[in-house]
Amino acid sequence: MTKNIDWQNLGFGYIKTDYRYIAYWKNGKWSKGELTQDNTLHISEGSTALHYGQQCFEGLKAYRCKDGSINLFRPDQNALRMQRSCQRLLMPEVPTEMFIDACKQVVKANQEWLAPYGTGATLYLRPFMIGVGDNVGVNPAPEYIFSIFCCPVGAYFKGGLKPTNFLVSNYDRAAPQGTGAAKVGGNYAASLYPGKEAKAHGFGDCIYLDPTTHTKIEEVGSANFFGITQDNTFITPLSPSILPSITKYSLLYLAKERLGLETKEGDVYIDQLDQFKEAGACGTAAVITPIGGIQYGDNFHVFYSETEVGEVTTKLYNELVGIQFGDVEAPEGWIVKVD
Ligand SMILES: Cc1ncc(COP(=O)(O)O)c(C=O)c1O
Repeated sequence: MTKNIDWQNLGFGYIKTDYRYIAYWKNGKWSKGELTQDNTLHISEGSTALHYGQQCFEGLKAYRCKDGSINLFRPDQNALRMQRSCQRLLMPEVPTEMFIDACKQVVKANQEWLAPYGTGATLYLRPFMIGVGDNVGVNPAPEYIFSIFCCPVGAYFKGGLKPTNFLVSNYDRAAPQGTGAAKVGGNYAASLYPGKEAKAHGFGDCIYLDPTTHTKIEEVGSANFFGITQDNTFITPLSPSILPSITKYSLLYLAKERLGLETKEGDVYIDQLDQFKEAGACGTAAVITPIGGIQYGDNFHVFYSETEVGEVTTKLYNELVGIQFGDVEAPEGWIVKVD
């Protein structure tokens, strides 16, 4: 039985679901993970996650298909990215198989929270790892917790795609050789203030420029940037301080293989936006958010339109979302069924 939720008006927020997965790293190995109904953690006051930000997380979604089955979209890529985050912060890695199995267990146990097909709503999974145990110096933690919880989330766009405007920030979210490519909490703590500033001025979020020269687009809030040039090339920034978006790499593939576009990862200079006829932000939460305009200092640059969505962006969106919900054939290995 599906929960009685107003799926059409569901946003992106925490809702306590029935079960979450939890595993403990002690004495050099992971415990057998299990499901629990307890949504609280009881940890040492000396936990490194609390003081030194030794933690990382992931985000992915489960989708209900027309035939009632459930899809996970490229969970192996989230497992791999989490392993890279763990390497960067000296945390133990969760093997890919354990990660995917844990995702499946959580979705299966909370199936009632997964929206019916056709509502656009999904079940958002939040895997995370924290350094715990008694500690006070700047050291890696003696113990770790790996957990996954889930929340039902609404369609990002109710009633179709809608362009959003963004403000270029004077702040950086990550250092040039820092932790920008890892999905670690510190990057997000650093983004709260600039994000609030942008929203207070009526923008959807802020855009970060590269932290070395402040001349190139890096990220769009919690999403990656892409632009479609006048001659139909899909371009997305390449930088060591960008979070490698799984959605972005999926779009790079789909743009080339399904839409026949040229694709390129390279520099996107903030003063050369005229080359693009369309632009968008992409990510698990944002899916594809068409970018209406970008405010950079006194200049407001409009791409396709502040109200209408471009043709290429629409095609990419339909292809991606069609694959996620099982309506469009997926490239091999992209869909993992929860059964
Ligand atoms: C900073 C940042 N960039 C980009 C993304 C998009 O990544 P993905 O497509 O893997 O969700 C996210 C969300 O995970 C993010 O937090």
